[in-house]
Amino acid sequence: MNAMIPGYPADFFGALEIVKVREKLAIDDIKALALIECAGEVFYLNVAKGLGNPEAKALLTKSGNEERGHAHRLLKAIKLLGGDFTLPEHDQNPLVASVMAEYPVNVEFMAMLVAGEKDGDLMYQRWAAAEANPEVAKIYLQNGKEETLHSERASQVIQMLGES
Ligand SMILES: [Fe+2]
Ligand SMILES: [Fe+2]
Repeated sequence: MNAMIPGYPADFFGALEIVKVREKLAIDDIKALALIECAGEVFYLNVAKGLGNPEAKALLTKSGNEERGHAHRLLKAIKLLGGDFTLPEHDQNPLVASVMAEYPVNVEFMAMLVAGEKDGDLMYQRWAAAEANPEVAKIYLQNGKEETLHSERASQVIQMLGES
């Protein structure tokens, strides 16, 4: 399977821009979001590669692994709403192809990540508030909470960058 969701570009940040402005998620939006979360895992692992500090690397790897967990929760949400979706392997995820192999990790870059993850929590809270199915809303809130945790980890990494 290498088909992008209708209405979404095969680009990690481009797809994120689209889902970002949705007030409520339809099943196709949740599928796209699951692909974004999977690509988010690869993104974090690639960002971690650019870091020398093993502690900082570990923090970002942890966040990356949790992004995959978010995708798995979204599969449950899709099921609860009567849909069905399987996560593709990374090499079959069209969004992964647009994730760079390495990123120039500096304070500015990490500050973007801090803000982006905070935003992620707010998005999930908004989608939860608009969702009629309470179990699905709960999944969104669980994911959102962890995005804030990711934001906090990114802040920790900024401190480590300052120390090295
Ligand atoms: Fe996530
Ligand atoms: Fe995150």
